[in-house]
Amino acid sequence: MNVSDSEGATRLWGGRFAGGPAEALARLSVSVQFDWRLAPYDLIGSRAHARVLAGAGLLDPEELGQILAALDDLDSACATGEFRPTVEDEDVHTALERGLLERLGTLGGKLRAGRSRNDQVATDLRLYLRDHARGVAVALIELADALTEQAERNVDTPAPGLTHVQHAQPVSFGHWLLAHVQPLLRDLERLRDWDGRAAISPLGSGALAGSSLPLDPAAVAKELGFQAPAPNSMDAVADRDFVAEFLFVTALIGVHLSRLGEEVVLWTSTEFGWVELDDAFATGSSIMPQKKNADIAELARGKSGRLTGGLVAVLTMLKGLPLTYDRDMQEDKEPVFDAVETLRLLLPALAGMIATMTVRVDRLAAAAPVGFSLATEVADWLVRKGVPFRDAHEITGQLVALCSARECELEDVSDEDLKVISEHLDPSVREVLTVSSALASRTTPGSTGPGPVAEQLALVQHRLDTWRQWAIEKVVPR
Ligand code: ARG
Repeated sequence: MNVSDSEGATRLWGGRFAGGPAEALARLSVSVQFDWRLAPYDLIGSRAHARVLAGAGLLDPEELGQILAALDDLDSACATGEFRPTVEDEDVHTALERGLLERLGTLGGKLRAGRSRNDQVATDLRLYLRDHARGVAVALIELADALTEQAERNVDTPAPGLTHVQHAQPVSFGHWLLAHVQPLLRDLERLRDWDGRAAISPLGSGALAGSSLPLDPAAVAKELGFQAPAPNSMDAVADRDFVAEFLFVTALIGVHLSRLGEEVVLWTSTEFGWVELDDAFATGSSIMPQKKNADIAELARGKSGRLTGGLVAVLTMLKGLPLTYDRDMQEDKEPVFDAVETLRLLLPALAGMIATMTVRVDRLAAAAPVGFSLATEVADWLVRKGVPFRDAHEITGQLVALCSARECELEDVSDEDLKVISEHLDPSVREVLTVSSALASRTTPGSTGPGPVAEQLALVQHRLDTWRQWAIEKVVPR
């Protein structure tokens, strides 16, 4: 092993090479500046591997004790920053082997038996992601909580429901806010489902073919909190489905946050004026003193681009790669680190923004019936009287046209004019022409009436509580 060459590097592969690598190669190849995030997970894997080597009789109890103590010492030195990777360390595995050699001398070199960076890096990344998926879940729940609390306060707040950003039908603003919670609940479910598939241990697969040493992959898997060892050593080191799938989940979270962000941008505009942001969660302009901007919402919209980009980058990198490990796969890490770190910044800011925003109930209520949004109530009223919907739609359309021309509201049309439009219309139609009656008439499950919204709210709160328990579950032994 070439522990140290003329440049002082600690390469793990120097034996057959005449000299050190070219500067340009070394600079291209190095990943320690980002994969150092895997250090704690690499050390967890190393402890398990040391025990397995001892179980196989390849380390005596004394050696095992020394190695475990050195790994603990290295772990705390990494945590305090006392041990740091240097520019000479190609990657996290190289740096940590150097740390072990510094502590143990040649004994430190025994730990590499039966293990390759290929199964190591796949294991480290699974551990990192399983751990951080729960961190993402905790932050998602915080945002879902903020939305749910606002929803609870606004179950009875009428709002103009939109399609095509045009006034469509009145809805409860609480229902609207819960419509942003539902995707987050699905995201949580996706994270948990992903976690089940990610819980497979590659350790023991070595470079690609498994090991001739009597290792115990099942014991290692168990110790690391995985459900099972990988069933195929070649797939174990070649598979990055868990990375791509994780990035799909984070990309979709990004899309959900972006759609929420876009709505907050609209709601806070002067034209809408439905919501006012707390000063602590809004920004000003360097030139226009009056400005109050929804930058958090805009950054949510903007950052969805990089989350989607990470997924596309990894899928494109994987496509066409021959089995098993290829160096291309080193490109799998930065997108997931970026996704995790992006969400870690974004979600708490969004949660704070939503929790502290003021909902302008008066403006929402005033806007709810605007744009003939109760026209469907008239059509449904006609249907209840036996008129085919096709005709009801036509009749109501004529009523709307009349009101448009006269610049009046549906309920302002005189009894005579109602009769002129259709024999089926009579003054009692005005009973359905209020926002509150429109909302109260929505009693089917999942609809926007006060009853179903209250039921939905209770269910959402219950499901969030369940997710809370999942998110704090410890899966990675640390
Ligand atoms: N830094 C490498 C990566 O992230 C570790 C695995 C290297 N394996 C190899 N055979 N060169 O993918």
